[in-house]
Amino acid sequence: MTITVIGAGYVGLVTAAVFSELGNKVYCVDISEERVNSLKKGKVPFFEPQLPEYLKRNIEEKRLFFTTSYSESVPKSQIVFICVGTPPTNNGEADLSYLFSAVEESARNFKGYTLITIKSTVPIGYEDDLEAIVKKYAKNNFEFAASPEFLKEGTAIEDTMHPDRIVIGTNSQKAQKMLLELHAPISGERIICDMRSAQLIKYASNAFLATKISYVNALAILCENMGADVGKVLSGVGADKRIGNAFMKPGVGYGGSCLPKDVTAFIAQADSFNYDFQLLRSVDAVNNTQIERFINKIRKALDAQEGKRTNLDGLTIAILGLAFKPNTDDIRDAPSIKIIKHLLDLKAKIVAYDPQTNENMKKVLPQVSYMEDAYKALQKADAMVLVTEWSEFSQMDFEKIKKIMKKPIIIDGRNMFDREKLKSLGFSYTGVGR
Ligand code: NAD
Ligand code: UGA
Repeated sequence: MTITVIGAGYVGLVTAAVFSELGNKVYCVDISEERVNSLKKGKVPFFEPQLPEYLKRNIEEKRLFFTTSYSESVPKSQIVFICVGTPPTNNGEADLSYLFSAVEESARNFKGYTLITIKSTVPIGYEDDLEAIVKKYAKNNFEFAASPEFLKEGTAIEDTMHPDRIVIGTNSQKAQKMLLELHAPISGERIICDMRSAQLIKYASNAFLATKISYVNALAILCENMGADVGKVLSGVGADKRIGNAFMKPGVGYGGSCLPKDVTAFIAQADSFNYDFQLLRSVDAVNNTQIERFINKIRKALDAQEGKRTNLDGLTIAILGLAFKPNTDDIRDAPSIKIIKHLLDLKAKIVAYDPQTNENMKKVLPQVSYMEDAYKALQKADAMVLVTEWSEFSQMDFEKIKKIMKKPIIIDGRNMFDREKLKSLGFSYTGVGR
């Protein structure tokens, strides 16, 4: 098949890479000329394991093409995948301006039957608006489908090649057949449904994942208050197969470009469909208090070492891990940004290290000193604060760290380190829910 993918971001590039790998001819269109030019040279604009190899191979095999021109690609394509961003507006709803303009530009260029398949996460209820946009340019020779994306950054290729499910939301038999054929080489359960149900599956899934995280974060607070160990509690809870262990790690709260925005957009949608989604409001509220709680933890650890209320003015805090999670250089809605801003307001000096995001973070927080490894960041630091659990941090030499830090204080926002070992080395250790 010949297909066009609109938007060369995380979802668009991975979709284009996977469908070209499976033998289709794929055009990937983006409005950013800079992005398209560097992609043509095989340069990927962000860090995502396996993606560079997939793109390079398929560009070389002449199955994958990058362009800023809809007219070069859409007329040749049977399916157009819309993968543009749907970021949050100030009131928490989804901003659909990129979606509308991508659909309009596509429609201007339809030639023959075209199936517009929406992969972007889009609220329910805009079918008529989308149809009206297309009808300005094309008469009847088009159909819509929703096929939401469930990939996780850091394992995006793997998730797309081996997904748990493929959701195909359309009432058209022809569209169903085309999408089933295109996905035939990919494993995973097929969920065939109408467009609204498909879009709801996406929001309901992300909101449920966020709910699990806020639940375990709330449980972690209770464990601290009650003197229990959240690690043990969750291994007992997760052992029940009906509950499971996945997405049950307490920490500094969920971040990233999707869970936070999709939770607030889902609450707004529920409102507009006459339901006050109180459960999700609480999920969001729990997440919003996580950062402040974590700052209090840092303050408490410093106070305990000094035996009095500490003034952070003049203290150096080393932050390890800045990306919103490991194996990505994405810092959109990263908890690290909020944590650092709080600490800067308290006049602390911040030294930081992340294996992938130092360069991205420099643009957002230029006041921070970025180091090229963890040891350099920890040199003469008054405290270590672990925010993102990159696996390289688990290999660190803590005897060496004890010697180079000014004070042996560790605040572990992800329960990554061995508490007993660190205590035996003379560190003051604070985790989450322990
Ligand atoms: P992104 O910001 O990484 O990429 C969007 C791309 O679209 C950008 O390169 C931008 O230049 C381009 N673009 C914007 N308007 C355009 C237009 N009119 N024509 C052509 N290109 C245009 O976004 P993303 O993270 O890939 O997310 C895309 C959608 O997929 C969102 O709705 C998101 O919620 C959803 N989603 C994201 C992920 C993820 O892990 N990032 C996973 C599943 C679903
Ligand atoms: C999330 C979903 O997992 C994907 O299925 C979905 O496709 C995607 O959003 C999307 O719609 O964009 P992603 O944002 O890449 O994927 O990251 P996650 O792995 O879900 O992590 C999100 C946040 O939750 C991170 O800040 C992470 O540190 C945090 N988290 C995750 C926890 O605090 N505890 C956990 O147990 C798991």
